[in-house]
Amino acid sequence: MSGPIHWTVPPARTFAGEVRVPGDKSISHRAVMLGAIANGETEVTGFLEAEDTRATLRAARALGVTVVSDDAGSLRIRGAGREGLRRPAGPLYLGNSGTGLRLLAGLLAGHSFDSTLIGDESLSRRPMRRIAEPLARMGARVETAPGGTPPLTVRGGQRLAGIEHRLEVASAQVKSCLLLAGLNARGRTRIEENAPSRDHTERMLAGFGYEVERSRGGVALTGGGELTGQSISVPRDLSSAAFFLVGACIAPRARVRLPGVGVNPTRDGVLRILRRMGASVSLENRRDSGGEPVADLVAEASRLKGIEIEGDLVALGIDEIPVLLLAAARAEGVTVVSGAAELRVKESDRLAAMEEGLRRLGVPVEARPDGVVVHGSGEPFRAARVASHGDHRIAMTFALAALAADGPIEIEDCENVATSFPGFTTEARAVGVEVEERE
Ligand code: S3P
Repeated sequence: MSGPIHWTVPPARTFAGEVRVPGDKSISHRAVMLGAIANGETEVTGFLEAEDTRATLRAARALGVTVVSDDAGSLRIRGAGREGLRRPAGPLYLGNSGTGLRLLAGLLAGHSFDSTLIGDESLSRRPMRRIAEPLARMGARVETAPGGTPPLTVRGGQRLAGIEHRLEVASAQVKSCLLLAGLNARGRTRIEENAPSRDHTERMLAGFGYEVERSRGGVALTGGGELTGQSISVPRDLSSAAFFLVGACIAPRARVRLPGVGVNPTRDGVLRILRRMGASVSLENRRDSGGEPVADLVAEASRLKGIEIEGDLVALGIDEIPVLLLAAARAEGVTVVSGAAELRVKESDRLAAMEEGLRRLGVPVEARPDGVVVHGSGEPFRAARVASHGDHRIAMTFALAALAADGPIEIEDCENVATSFPGFTTEARAVGVEVEERE
């Protein structure tokens, strides 16, 4: 990647139009991984062309899978079969992506060869014992660096056996990692969860014809079955849409429409939270796309009120909490987020990054070990320079702050926006937020 990119965003006066956000990141990763181990061909449309998902695609190719891409966003994956991946020539680089690394570790645990998974500086700090320990209980051999972080070496040739595992924190990445390992394990792998986490893996496995037993609070599968290649139409990403939804809610006279966005109920916390805050957000033309619910979203300028965000709502909207804090800062009253300590181990410590940035904008805010308290007010945000901490979602959040600011917002180190939403600045400009970029 080239050098750092900084943004300057002058106060924006209008926010209106239609925004086509890119394909869903979580579903794009999974489409490549399941396509890679299926029998036959998998066709993917709407694939997210971004750094995180391209890293997964490169890893699949390095593992011997043929993938043809005739157009941006379209893939034809020639599946290698459930145990058919091949020894890569070197370490597999997953960039910034926790999903890429954790899910791939599960997929590789039951293969016959050794592989090493590495990532960028941020990913190299993220916790991996949460997968290494349960994988070890399945009989896998997974080595981490001394702090339990990447690089991760998965030793091949182990015979795996299914386990029952209770997730201590809601994590779709851990759940999915173990389900993927379970495909090549003897017997049944069952994962229990206290709070719902996104179920894209379960839905997609079923789409590939793999039997998945689902019950309230748990999911199980039996190893040794086969996956049959299929066509996958990836919905647009609700996490990317969230920036525009919040932007519309905090800008005067705003109205944006976002067609074809995924609204999976295990992932739609941002919609539920915005509505509880009094936001005008509606879902039109609800439909199903390849096993995932999709809708056109419309959001308008709203009078927001502060609320408590806790319990299941946190897991259901985990990636959108940073941008929701911007909505909280524009709401009347106090917003309290609790039970969200996971935000400290994402691409950055998102509670600390948001506390620091919101303070610079003049918003009274205190982070707590597992959450944050934001005192909303009608005051405009102050012109300020904020750090993104190299985190795509923090950078995009503060760009939207320009919609309620009295002077320009400068944001440092925005290059990682390319991990999830490379076209963000173009889409933002098209609806009225003039992001200026400089190196
Ligand atoms: C993801 C799961 C979430 C989320 C991440 C994507 C996934 O992480 O934060 O951006 O695709 O499974 P956890 O499952 O670790 O909470």
